[in-house]
Amino acid sequence: MSKAEFLSVELTEAFVKLIAQQTGLEIRERDQADLSEKIFFRMKAINILFPEEYYQLLGYSTIQSYQEWHRLVLLLTNLESYFFRDKEQFNLLRDRILPELIERQQNKKTLRICSAGCSSGEEPLSLAIVLKELIPNPEQWNLMILGVDINQEALKKAKQGIYTPWSLRSIDPEIMQRYFLHFNNQYYLDMQIQQMVKFKYINLVKDAFHEHNEMRDIDLIICRNVFIYFEASAIAKVLDKFNHILQPSGYLIAGHTELCGQDLSHFETKLFPESLVYIKKSV
Ligand SMILES: C[S@@+](CC[C@H](N)C(=O)[O-])C[C@H]1O[C@@H](n2cnc3c(N)ncnc32)[C@H](O)[C@@H]1O
Repeated sequence: MSKAEFLSVELTEAFVKLIAQQTGLEIRERDQADLSEKIFFRMKAINILFPEEYYQLLGYSTIQSYQEWHRLVLLLTNLESYFFRDKEQFNLLRDRILPELIERQQNKKTLRICSAGCSSGEEPLSLAIVLKELIPNPEQWNLMILGVDINQEALKKAKQGIYTPWSLRSIDPEIMQRYFLHFNNQYYLDMQIQQMVKFKYINLVKDAFHEHNEMRDIDLIICRNVFIYFEASAIAKVLDKFNHILQPSGYLIAGHTELCGQDLSHFETKLFPESLVYIKKSV
């Protein structure tokens, strides 16, 4: 990269602020050189000569701006995920939280779960596997497992249901045997499990949840390894939105320590040996 391809301090600050407003993502000082490279990479791809012009493009409410955000987001997001990531939290879900929700919803036979920041699907699909094991008659239930993300490529991969051994590095061999078909060093997820999960593009920070029919009356939100990349004010904004879409006594599970320092007055916290969980207070 030539020297001319560095952003000025002022412009770097302006991009950092715009990205945080639009996506929640916090670009830390140590990552700013990297950000500059990504911006010049995108400028070249769409034949823009000056970073000021690119900044303006991102600020517009045009279809070009919308499309460009999608492409830039592909470069800004970290997609690391794998099946049954944080086994302890999954054990807690399997042994305590999901059985309790199933019991609670036994009459209505409706269960609504959202994996927020689901990347390529490993998290909501792991939940689908656990539910399949817990509910012997899933066809009698109205189950919704929704995976939402801001990265379109990750969502495309999630919908394919084909994974490398790396995504399955933490899975119980018996579960792997039962739900995956191994072929050519790739693992094909059981169709029934795939069909239990719906994937959708939603920007947790920018999008109005009420415009998405699925984002209501949620019994369990799982949002892990997303807020670690967010600015504190964006976390607060998303927490408020989560509070609005959760059922009274609905559960929120985040990554360990991801909600430190946040106002959690709308939630009760419950400490299990495996993890802290948050329960929406019934008013
Ligand atoms: C590190 S992955 C975590 C995946 C999964 N939750 C897990 O713990 O394995 C973080 C995900 O959050 C998504 N993300 C980041 N900002 C987002 C936003 N504003 N709205 C929705 N998803 C976002 C990223 O695209 C990425 O897929």
